[in-house]
Amino acid sequence: MTTPPANAHLNPAYASEDITAVWEHCHAHLQPLEDALPVAGDDVLIKINAHIRIGQDTWFDMATISYDRVLRRFFLTQQDRLAMLRDRTDLMNTPVTAVNARLWSKTPTMINIEPTTRCNFSCWYCVGRHMQQDDIRLEDFGRMLDNFPEVKTIALVGEGEPLMHKDFFDMAQMAKDRGIRVMIISNGSAFSQSVIKKLCETEVAYVSISIDSFDPATFAESRIDGDLEKILRGIKQLRDYRDANGFKFPKIALKGTLFSHTIDQLPAIVDLAKKSGVEIFESFQALNPMKNYVRIYPKGQAPQLPVANRVAQAIERDSVYGREQLQPMNDFLAENNIDFSKPVLNNPLRKNCDETWLYSLLSGDVTPCCQIKTPISPRWNIFNNRVADILADLEYENVRFNLWNGIFPVYCDGCWKTQ
Ligand SMILES: C[S@@+](CC[C@H](N)C(=O)[O-])C[C@H]1O[C@@H](n2cnc3c(N)ncnc32)[C@H](O)[C@@H]1O
Ligand code: SF4
Repeated sequence: MTTPPANAHLNPAYASEDITAVWEHCHAHLQPLEDALPVAGDDVLIKINAHIRIGQDTWFDMATISYDRVLRRFFLTQQDRLAMLRDRTDLMNTPVTAVNARLWSKTPTMINIEPTTRCNFSCWYCVGRHMQQDDIRLEDFGRMLDNFPEVKTIALVGEGEPLMHKDFFDMAQMAKDRGIRVMIISNGSAFSQSVIKKLCETEVAYVSISIDSFDPATFAESRIDGDLEKILRGIKQLRDYRDANGFKFPKIALKGTLFSHTIDQLPAIVDLAKKSGVEIFESFQALNPMKNYVRIYPKGQAPQLPVANRVAQAIERDSVYGREQLQPMNDFLAENNIDFSKPVLNNPLRKNCDETWLYSLLSGDVTPCCQIKTPISPRWNIFNNRVADILADLEYENVRFNLWNGIFPVYCDGCWKTQ
């Protein structure tokens, strides 16, 4: 069979079925974004996956539908129909009667809450330094928990240092009282004896510490104001106190950001962290190339961006060593029943995004991805709205639909997942 042209549905030879009415009957609000980044593969016709019902009761999973961006209509092309009905040629002339494009991941039981944007470090790559500096209020945190009764795990992580929040341990205790696990990412600078004791007593499950270099001077170049030796001493004291006093938690993990001049440092950072008491390998990342991040980078750091891809490849290579030397993060999550698992259905058409958790900004505004730093809808504020209602909001569903299909809004420009 020859490949149909981009405007196949306009060509009677391909006899496409216009299924727009069925689509709109099933979920009219799920529409490819008009103002999107270019979609790989086609200018006019975008391929989209969906489950399709033919006739009264025969469903086909992950069929391919075509959306015409000019006509704004959905089609099942003859070629895609043939592929779908390979084993059911008896249905060749039976019309489509239902469609289900809600293929994104299951309902989250985890939320990432930004507790503060304040920090005692000034890392040059951190967007948090350019955001309004504030803390979440304790009563708002309580309302968040009330609005998300299904939540099992909270990551208190954002563009600030969680341990800088004066009510951090009240939040941790509130979560503990409700049987919710708490995970954090920290710069590791605040491990005084009293902080260490409270981390253990409130059973914070997981503390991941960011270490960008094994060398103190290089470390301080990116983690401005950071004292690597003090951080390593703090990690050791936390580990010693926890073990000596019979606490199971927190488990201590490693994370960090690498650059062109630290591209090969991952194994040495792992060795150093392990010696200091770190147990889990979380992940390393290269400099974030998203346009929203790039705008805050100092001009002198511009040469870092063209090599970020190469740094990411080196990280992938060396992470194997990290996971050999330390417990892989996924094993920790599985051991502790933390549902961070990847989506049930993968998109076979193109790169997409389907985060399995919610992300709450300091303002309580929820977005489906931690890279989105501006509120999208006032209806998605978790201080005032139940998470079940946010997830069922038609606009929220449409954002997830588009992300799942790799039809990215312009604010995703530059993100790894769009490339
Ligand atoms: C935003 S920080 C917040 C938690 C804590 N203050 C810390 O630094 O670990 C979380 C992680 O994001 C990384 N990070 C922040 N901005 C980044 C950027 N522009 N590019 C790459 N990684 C970044 C940091 O290195 C850190 O590992
Ligand atoms: S320590 Fe974390 S929050 Fe603080 S400036 Fe650095 S990256 Fe940002």
